[in-house]
Amino acid sequence: MIEKQTWSQRFESALHPAIARFNASIGFDIELIKYDITGSQAHAKMLAHTGIISYEEGEILFTGLEQIRQEYDQGQFQPGIDSEDVHFAVEKRLTEIVGDVGKKLHTARSRNDQVGTDTRLYLRDQIRKIRQQLREFQGVLLDIAEKNVETLIPGYTHLQRAQPVSLAHHLLAYFQMAQRDWERLADVYSRVNISPLGCGALAGTTFPIDRHYTAKLLHFDRVYANSLDGVSDRDFAIEFLCAASIIMVHLSRLSEEVILWASEEFRFVTLKDSCATGSSIMPQKKNPDVPELVRGKTGRVFGHLQAMLVIMKGLPLAYNKDLQEDKEGIFDSVNTVQACLEAMTILLQEGLEFRHQRLATAVTEDFANATDVADYLAARGVPFREAYNIVGKVVKTSIAAGKLLKDLHLEEWQQIHPAFAADIYEAIAPRQVVAARNSYGGTGFVQVREAIVNARTQISGK
Ligand code: ARG
Repeated sequence: MIEKQTWSQRFESALHPAIARFNASIGFDIELIKYDITGSQAHAKMLAHTGIISYEEGEILFTGLEQIRQEYDQGQFQPGIDSEDVHFAVEKRLTEIVGDVGKKLHTARSRNDQVGTDTRLYLRDQIRKIRQQLREFQGVLLDIAEKNVETLIPGYTHLQRAQPVSLAHHLLAYFQMAQRDWERLADVYSRVNISPLGCGALAGTTFPIDRHYTAKLLHFDRVYANSLDGVSDRDFAIEFLCAASIIMVHLSRLSEEVILWASEEFRFVTLKDSCATGSSIMPQKKNPDVPELVRGKTGRVFGHLQAMLVIMKGLPLAYNKDLQEDKEGIFDSVNTVQACLEAMTILLQEGLEFRHQRLATAVTEDFANATDVADYLAARGVPFREAYNIVGKVVKTSIAAGKLLKDLHLEEWQQIHPAFAADIYEAIAPRQVVAARNSYGGTGFVQVREAIVNARTQISGK
């Protein structure tokens, strides 16, 4: 039950227990406690610095808050629903510890600017962690790419075999996605890192506070210029959830590929026992649960982004209690992205084995070299569109004859077009097909090796 004195003498009776439970956020915003303490310590310092409270009082508040931090870390402080939210919980405990001076902490502050400050401090830490995890993920992709520059894998468009590519090239595509995620989060961070502290409930405060002082103590880059905006802005949360969703898109696409590759139809990878699970009824099965879960968890992060947009769209200025609904989605998205990045990194690192023999066969058993035949003719003066039509016919007759291009005799080639010579076989060999795509950003081995060097430099921070 909420104590009625929390709300001042205006209230006659306490909250109905069910309403208290409905209203409370302590069940989830306890996640913010260490940031709430840090924010409050900066606020206390500022109050003393500006002479709003005495220096001694500031010290008492700071030390009392530090004690709460320790109590919480040691599991001795477990606030219950009687506190409504983490902000009340900390303030109440502080007053128990330091006595009446604890009641001075909330001078020139509101829970509205306080919760905004806490959420930003929390997200800052989490963004740093996710960026670090992205680097590890990229590192593992690079390690595998380095070993597989000359491993060929069928490349697809429309999930139809198109042209063979270097496996390294394929993996480096995911490296680039993660690189954008890493950059995007830095950009999001720059808007997370703005201090709303001192915006008060909505309009600022009558006290001679120093917002730049608290911002500096808390390592914020700048302060909100408008107090109404400061307490009610959640753009930073939307941006974060959007960046998180895009990370999940990337992880989910990779997951989908791994799931396909592990199937009997593809057989491109084997899942190692440390990262695969069995079936409770079909003893022969080995299931790709990790990528399936990542793919599945993507939905909830998208959902949180959508929820946040909807929470915001009709909100009049400034703070509204609707904003309390931001937290669970943010926390869950942070936890989901972090867990998925960790799992996918481990899966790549030790859970997957590429089946080199099978890949080598896969790139020779189709018509994925047909473009190269057209290119061959085009390079010998036949206009490309004409060459394209000729090769279309070649493919058709080969299929009818149950042959692959490599199995056609030289005479057969020359009957099709006199420009074909003995070097056609070399030109359509998968290795050559890949090596020849040496345009910038292409799968040619020279390009891929260079891409790996560049990627290494990128993640080593040079
Ligand atoms: N628990 C609240 C939240 O998460 C804290 C701010 C409450 N402010 C208020 N005016 N009721 O948003």
